[in-house]
Amino acid sequence: MPSSAVKVLDKNGQEITSVGFDRFGFNSEVPIDDLRSLYLRSHYSSAKPNDELNPDDEGPHHAQFTKGLSPYQSKSIYYPEHNSISYTTLARFPPVKLLAPSQRKRVLVTGGAGFVGSHLVDRLMLLGHDVTVLDNFFTGSRTTVSHWVGHPNFELVRHDVVEPFMIECDQIYHLACPASPPHYQFNAVKTVKTSFMGTLNMLGLAKRTKARFLISSTSEVYGDPEVHPQPEDYWGHVNPIGDRACYDEGKRVAETLTYGYHRQDGVDVRVARIFNTYGPRMNPYDGRVVSNFIVQALKGEDLTVYGDGTQTRSFQYIHDLVDGLICLMNSDETRPVNIGNGDEFTIGDFAELVREIVEKVQAEDGDKPSRQVQVVYKALPNDDPQKRRPDTTRAKESLKWQPRWTVRMGLEEMVRYYKAKMAEGSL
Ligand SMILES: NC(=O)c1ccc[n+]([C@@H]2O[C@H](COP(=O)([O-])OP(=O)(O)OC[C@H]3O[C@@H](n4cnc5c(N)ncnc54)[C@H](O)[C@@H]3O)[C@@H](O)[C@H]2O)c1
Repeated sequence: MPSSAVKVLDKNGQEITSVGFDRFGFNSEVPIDDLRSLYLRSHYSSAKPNDELNPDDEGPHHAQFTKGLSPYQSKSIYYPEHNSISYTTLARFPPVKLLAPSQRKRVLVTGGAGFVGSHLVDRLMLLGHDVTVLDNFFTGSRTTVSHWVGHPNFELVRHDVVEPFMIECDQIYHLACPASPPHYQFNAVKTVKTSFMGTLNMLGLAKRTKARFLISSTSEVYGDPEVHPQPEDYWGHVNPIGDRACYDEGKRVAETLTYGYHRQDGVDVRVARIFNTYGPRMNPYDGRVVSNFIVQALKGEDLTVYGDGTQTRSFQYIHDLVDGLICLMNSDETRPVNIGNGDEFTIGDFAELVREIVEKVQAEDGDKPSRQVQVVYKALPNDDPQKRRPDTTRAKESLKWQPRWTVRMGLEEMVRYYKAKMAEGSL
């Protein structure tokens, strides 16, 4: 596999060449370039009018950075003059580990076509496991996992988790739920149904099949916290009737159900309380702060900060989260575990950092920005928490897990991802 052009250093200045660990009897390690070849590359190559169709021709508009990263992705040709696209499927897949049947797990990932889910799916597939994705494509998209469709270890099922579903499996990662405020507030009742009935159905499945069950809960269960940083035994400060309640209370009751099944029925459960996570494949238009800022800066628009910019957030890179989820699933830890990066930024400083990194990447690529972008401030939405930072002591102690990616490194990779998307015409 060709190595990527970009060197990533971890928090200690060591180069990151792989992600994952061999821990708790489950080896989740894969080379970073193998993962990158699945997302840091355009799916489309552009053709000029009357170009002869050659699926191997990457085209002149192909983003520099992503050139030649992988020969395994489906390629399609984009015609800017008609704004049309011709899709090509290749019956060739990225190489996956060959596991003995006794080592191969049958893993169900609900919400596997979403941002977090698709990265988890990539990792589990490269590791050689059998993966089934269950998704209703409300916020996720087939394109995030299309490079696996047709692979003998992979199955993609369109299904809404509020309806029961039966399948034999060993592990269930239950991620299905819209995660960004505009999406979960779009139909608040449906969000509560997804959180409650979806979790009930998947716990019922875990009970019947004796599969281990992991739910992706959220730092939002702490609401607007009065304790900083938030440890897992903090009970939270949530407005039960506010705009965010459908999500916050939905996740709280999903946790209640999870521990109900654990205590009453002996279901083997894991609860991950995920803090703000960012990375490639995030929907750039769903109002989450990292993608908002990057896309605004790349488009030469001003960066919008809601409030006075003094509210703080911590941001974790997607590969750290996937490491944490896999570690937790395979560990013996049944208590809730915070998975997040404790490096805290004010939103104002974070906007400045994004602006600086976008300018750096543009300079490295020889791009001339149309204008110098500014940071502008607007009114704060309801119930937006002032401060949020994980206490990850439990994850450190019981999973031996801690984030490796610096925010700067993650942001650079994400800027390059969105830049490639813009270059191919899909953003
Ligand atoms: N991304 C974060 O920063 C973050 C933080 C905390 C918690 N989480 C949790 O992680 C999980 C994944 O989040 P994400 O960021 O990938 O969000 P996402 O919106 O990108 O992915 C959610 C996926 O679930 C699917 N889905 C939604 N409702 C469904 C339903 N009723 N039936 C079947 N599929 C359904 C969507 O189509 C999508 O593919 C969510 O449970 C979210 O609450 C994410």
